[in-house]
Amino acid sequence: MLEVARILGGVPLKGEVRAAGAKNAALPLMAASLLSAETVTLRGVPDLSDVRFMAEILRHLGASAESPEPGVWRIRAAQVSHRTPYELVRKMRASVCLLGALVGRLGRAEMAVPGGCVIGPRPIDLHLRGLESLGCRVTLEAGAVSVDATAARGGEVDMGGPMGSTVLGTANLVMAAALTRGSTRVLNAAREPEVSDLCDLLRKMGARVSGDGTATIEVEGVPSLGGADHAIIADRIEAGTYLAAGAITGGDVTVRGAEAAHLGAFLGRLEAAGVEIFHGPGFVRARGLPRRGVDVVTEPHPGFPTDLQAQFMAVQLMAPGVTTVTEKVYPHRFMHVAELQRMGADIRLDGAVATVHGGRPLSGAPVMASDLRASAALILAGLAATGETWVQRLYHLDRGYEKFKERLRGLGADVVRLPQSEMPSSLRAED
Ligand code: EPZ
Repeated sequence: MLEVARILGGVPLKGEVRAAGAKNAALPLMAASLLSAETVTLRGVPDLSDVRFMAEILRHLGASAESPEPGVWRIRAAQVSHRTPYELVRKMRASVCLLGALVGRLGRAEMAVPGGCVIGPRPIDLHLRGLESLGCRVTLEAGAVSVDATAARGGEVDMGGPMGSTVLGTANLVMAAALTRGSTRVLNAAREPEVSDLCDLLRKMGARVSGDGTATIEVEGVPSLGGADHAIIADRIEAGTYLAAGAITGGDVTVRGAEAAHLGAFLGRLEAAGVEIFHGPGFVRARGLPRRGVDVVTEPHPGFPTDLQAQFMAVQLMAPGVTTVTEKVYPHRFMHVAELQRMGADIRLDGAVATVHGGRPLSGAPVMASDLRASAALILAGLAATGETWVQRLYHLDRGYEKFKERLRGLGADVVRLPQSEMPSSLRAED
């Protein structure tokens, strides 16, 4: 059933919220469980549609994947097929991280090449070039990639591309190298905390991996990996989104379980804009509205995270002055701009640069979610706008934000979820 969110803006959000487990750690770590024939238990896993979908794909591959209690997933891949199901994989780009796990475990893999999505093309050329550097034979036919790792040996792989490193590409190569004979050096590796969390799990499974968090990861192949029990890291993007909710409403929000170091340059940019930021072990807090425009450029970690670009842009709609947002990871990741303009935002797009003239009042409007993080930006704008904002196609939000309505209401927001049929038909966009 299609649902909409109705938000009555103007309430400063105050209080505490606990960050859920990181979606972008959960997905590669679930894939990594295929590297072992023993049980891998993951704890603190968020209750998201993407997580349930990844579990469905794992079961399709022959693994058992059960959630005996909320947040806990038990995965056991005693037997596993090398062929990923096209009709499932094409629905979730992140399933590309199964490639490395299958190549490591079975020495071969077949997968439909993931398509693009609304934030832009999502190529995997760096993943495939890395596997070829290990001696894998990679063939592309009819939109599917086949990898044969019979002759694979450890070696030097370079994950650097035109936009910097690749997060899931690094994850794939580390997983493949973990069970590939010889030493592998991953150059220009992604330094995101989710990559380090994956390496923590792999070490618990018996892998020999070091250097994660830096640009060079070293992997010594081992013959096999065992099971493990691992609590995944908190979701830094969800945490940043709730801090943004505090800032955009001029409130005072503390996120428990979040690590300031995981948020890259996001906190520094909020502070430069005049939002008060406090942090300590296991918490980050944002208080007060932004007071000035700033410039921001998205980059791989530890730079400003592209996944918080839309949310930051929404916050800066409240800041008198000019804010420029330059997207250097996904140059087209501006689906939120047109919808924010419907709420009165003054944003001008010129290629990969958005120029925001902030400090103007926002008025609530019916808007359309498009992708996960753009949808969060619309919710944020609705929290600050006068009047009612209706956000349609909430399934985009449910992919990455566990219980977002409950969490926002816990901070004092006036937000409800309704069946789309209860939205005034005069406001409903043709679907
Ligand atoms: C991960 O995607 C995240 N997803 C994305 O989060 C995030 O936006 C992205 O990293 C960047 O931080 C998951 O972890 C599941 P990339 P990933 O490979 O690994 C180019 C969200 O909202 N590139 O680091 O697929 C690519 O086009 C999602 O939670 C190549 O050119 O991203 C992009 O411009 C959205 N060739 C840049 O690198 C390749 O082979 C970064 O992509 C691979 C990537």
